[in-house]
Amino acid sequence: MKYNTLGGTDLRVSRLGFGCGSIGGLLVRGEYPKMREALARALELGVNYFDTAPLYGNGQSEVNLGAVLRELRAEALIGTKVRLAGKDVGRIGEAITESVEGSLRRLGRRDIDLIQVHNRIGFTWKPERDPDRIGLPDLGTATETFEALQRQGKVRFWGITAMGETDALRAAVAAGRFHSIQVPYNLLNPTAGTIVGRGFPFQDYGQIMEPASQKGMGVIAIRILAGGALSGAPERHPVASTWVNPIASEERYGDDVARARRFSFLVEEGVVNNLVEAAVRFAVSNANVSTALLGISSLEQLEEAVKYVERGPLPGEILARIQAQKLN
Ligand SMILES: NC(=O)c1ccc[n+]([C@@H]2O[C@H](COP(=O)([O-])OP(=O)(O)OC[C@H]3O[C@@H](n4cnc5c(N)ncnc54)[C@H](OP(=O)(O)O)[C@@H]3O)[C@@H](O)[C@H]2O)c1
Repeated sequence: MKYNTLGGTDLRVSRLGFGCGSIGGLLVRGEYPKMREALARALELGVNYFDTAPLYGNGQSEVNLGAVLRELRAEALIGTKVRLAGKDVGRIGEAITESVEGSLRRLGRRDIDLIQVHNRIGFTWKPERDPDRIGLPDLGTATETFEALQRQGKVRFWGITAMGETDALRAAVAAGRFHSIQVPYNLLNPTAGTIVGRGFPFQDYGQIMEPASQKGMGVIAIRILAGGALSGAPERHPVASTWVNPIASEERYGDDVARARRFSFLVEEGVVNNLVEAAVRFAVSNANVSTALLGISSLEQLEEAVKYVERGPLPGEILARIQAQKLN
């Protein structure tokens, strides 16, 4: 396993990170022995970064991750998040502090390596219109709270989820007051790291990875399999979420699955064994990506992903063909 330094922090993160979210579902709905087996194997294979959030399984993902890592006595890096809600307007600092305290309790740890804002970001926050989307001034308040929590030894570094309005995200990155961004990046929507032609049908993230990296921020790629659609098959694993809300791609998961099949030429030409390999290797081909998170449903999926990551980036000529492909 290769490791990258997460931006300007001293965290050395594995190129593949373990997503403990609801979509993959292992850490939320899996049986405890299966979680333990998969996490132990992940550590053995060199995966050292685990992404969770209070929202995943209503705290269950943090509880399970903390319990297994304690049982395994593992030295692992944990990223978790804080989601602000409409009721937190005017009390952002208190809300963040309460959320971090809750995460520490559930994880059973004294500190969190990386705490991230789990809201989409716009210029202003109008909770009555969109409770999930906070504004740039709120991000400033969040940063001051993270700094205070860092002084108390409760968090080491902090970041944002780079979802929301692209221009607001660019402004947030330019202000440069956090250590990382989590951004969707996959074959269906590669715009966080790749220039696409005119007429691209989904949100254009304007290659936000580039200014983020230049500002010394680590880049965490999320949704590298588009929630599973990039496997090219609509069937879901039994512990996976049965319903996936696409992020910045088609409106319906089934349409993402159909769109994923446009990349079948990579399999037919023998460049990769299957679409999962294409998607995983595409994510780690971008030098700005510090770690690429994969939502895991089973030990087999983990082993497969590690094998693909070990095969390294896709060849430059293949990346150029993917980029040249008409994406609209
Ligand atoms: N900050 C944020 O707002 C945010 C948003 C989204 C995600 N995240 C983080 O990013 C992580 C990953 O995102 P995600 O889980 O939403 O999406 P994802 O990683 O793109 O997709 C996960 C799905 O991919 C499929 N999969 C994985 N390995 C496979 C394999 N070897 N073969 C076939 N299918 C495979 C599984 O689906 P099947 O069940 O169909 O096999 C799994 O449910 C999350 O766990 C979370 O930690 C953060």
